[in-house]
Amino acid sequence: MQEIKFVKAASLKEKPKDQSKLGFGKIFTDYMFTMEYSSKEGWHNAQVKPYQNLSLDPATTFIHYGQAFFEGMKAYNAVDGVRLFRPKDNFARATRSAERLCMPALDEELALEGLKKLLAVEKDWIPTAPGTSLYIRPCMIATDVFLGVHASDTYLFFIILSPVGAYYAEGLKPIKIYVEDECVRAVRGGIGFTKAAANYAASIFAGEHAAQKGYSQVLWLDGVERKYIEEVGAMNMVFVIDGKIVTPPLRGSILPGVTRDSVLKLGPKLGYEVEERPITIDEVMETAKNGRMSEAFGCGTAAVISPVGAFCLEGEEVTVGDGGIGSVSMKLYETLTGIQYGRVPDDMGWSMKLDI
Ligand code: PLP
Ligand code: COI
Repeated sequence: MQEIKFVKAASLKEKPKDQSKLGFGKIFTDYMFTMEYSSKEGWHNAQVKPYQNLSLDPATTFIHYGQAFFEGMKAYNAVDGVRLFRPKDNFARATRSAERLCMPALDEELALEGLKKLLAVEKDWIPTAPGTSLYIRPCMIATDVFLGVHASDTYLFFIILSPVGAYYAEGLKPIKIYVEDECVRAVRGGIGFTKAAANYAASIFAGEHAAQKGYSQVLWLDGVERKYIEEVGAMNMVFVIDGKIVTPPLRGSILPGVTRDSVLKLGPKLGYEVEERPITIDEVMETAKNGRMSEAFGCGTAAVISPVGAFCLEGEEVTVGDGGIGSVSMKLYETLTGIQYGRVPDDMGWSMKLDI
């Protein structure tokens, strides 16, 4: 593997003093990892260097045509040192995003090595308060300077780090979700299964409308019939119906979440039946009203397990269960974070302890 160069910062930032006020994605650490790609040289010039602005020509391809994607994972201050959670799955998904966007496959081994080296330098930035972590944001952008719509020949991959608390201001308190019945986020055959920046651009309009009405997130319906549940802006959606854990199948328009996959695999170990099947919005509204749906939650790296207390469809709001945190959500939250922070034995081999 090629050498990763280290460039020392002239000065370091002050670390946040009050970890209860971290929020999400507002503070960035002292260093970043970068590497470049060209078809001639492949991935090269890997460096851990001071966090800094990017200097880009205004005609840089990704700015105009959105050839860009990102990833999201976390480093945890675990009971026995620093741990990552399924990082190889994130880098494998990065390569799938890259393929769909006609970008080069990531050198996944080099990216993981770069991340480890970055974390070794930045480990004092990993917050220690309960529920906090160091959010890891890998990103790839197309860097050719050219206004023709084409696949770029050159790319930049970078990783930045941000100490974070809860993604939602509500923390573990159930959030309220707005069911979007006009705009769609993705269609099968499109790029919904990737972490393309464009998917998030497509979601902001509806997200802002929902926020104005007092809802934290948008629940997307399928782009064709507008009747099947897809996912939420920053997480996959899971329901507990008739005591079973139920989530929509992966059909190309939603993100195959690492947390979703973990929930599907942990469920049976905790004694729950799990089902991946199409779920209509009518079923959601009906089973929430008649009590067959006892819980609903979103799941994702940033959001962890985020209970949903109510859904609003066309002005009608229904409460899920008693509007509080359900026992299945709580059990999954405790088991998942227990594995991530090294408190619970990990027989799946998901948690990676770093030698730093
Ligand atoms: N769906 C979307 C649109 C997301 O942005 C995320 C966050 O990454 C997820 C689902 C959850 O994915 P993961 O569990 O891999 O973080
Ligand atoms: C993550 O959970 O890592 C995400 O990418 C969600 C993000 C859009 C905040």
